[in-house]
Amino acid sequence: MVHAKSWTLKKHFVGLPTNSDFELKKVELPPLKDGEVLLEALYFTVDPYMRIMAKSLKEGDMMMGEQVARVVESKNSAFPTGTIVVAPSGWATHSISDGEKLEKVLAEWPDTLPLSLALGTVGMPGLTAYFGLFDICGVKGGETVLVSVAAGAVGSVVGQIAKLKGCKVVGTAGSDEKVAWLKKHGFDVAINYKTVKSLEEALKHPDEEIWKNCYMWGHLCIQQNRPTSPRPTPGSHHL
Ligand SMILES: NC(=O)c1ccc[n+]([C@@H]2O[C@H](COP(=O)([O-])OP(=O)(O)OC[C@H]3O[C@@H](n4cnc5c(N)ncnc54)[C@H](OP(=O)(O)O)[C@@H]3O)[C@@H](O)[C@H]2O)c1
Repeated sequence: MVHAKSWTLKKHFVGLPTNSDFELKKVELPPLKDGEVLLEALYFTVDPYMRIMAKSLKEGDMMMGEQVARVVESKNSAFPTGTIVVAPSGWATHSISDGEKLEKVLAEWPDTLPLSLALGTVGMPGLTAYFGLFDICGVKGGETVLVSVAAGAVGSVVGQIAKLKGCKVVGTAGSDEKVAWLKKHGFDVAINYKTVKSLEEALKHPDEEIWKNCYMWGHLCIQQNRPTSPRPTPGSHHL
């Protein structure tokens, strides 16, 4: 008999969630049926989209979300015991799945890399960054990419893969600590948008060449590219 602990939405939160909005509950899981697996969570993810999705939950429901989990018991030959998967099992220590929505992590996952990356750089945020940059923006290399929320899960990957592609990368973030982190990770220019007197002035980098064929990334840039934009750039692309 397995007891799962799950974090449930005690009450809908207003603004930023706090601990008191959640309640830890214990439930007893039923025995596995044929085709099912028992999962033990290794890592949960906490993503911005949850603030919106949580509105569709009823108070008392378990919080949704992906997790990296290990199959600890199996009645499904496609997922033998020990398989590591990404599962949409929410914030629960243990859960039962019929295997349909499970994704195996790469069998050749290097021991030196934490499995949590399957929820980050190698997971949804990384895929968002990669396909957004290459498939939607069509960045080929050699251009300039401006990334807002640059120290976040998606933005930090956008900046790093743009650098690998040979782009110049400018990032904006909300603290000096984040700006230092961006510089350490190869951003050519990093700006604390909260402390600059004028974002427009800050974006007037001495190297004006940097803005030629500039690709802009993120919600901040969408706002900047509206008709009243102070700095519309040729070749810019919206997301
Ligand atoms: N994660 C994904 O897979 C994914 C997929 C598709 C779309 N998105 C979207 O991409 C955006 C960034 O996602 P992410 O996963 O990279 O986010 P994240 O790592 O959680 O970063 C959130 C950052 O947003 C900034 N921020 C600005 N205004 C904020 C506010 N009012 N409240 C809280 N944070 C605020 C803060 O950075 P500063 O201090 O630097 O301002 C904060 O650290 C979100 O809009 C998300 O919905 C994400």
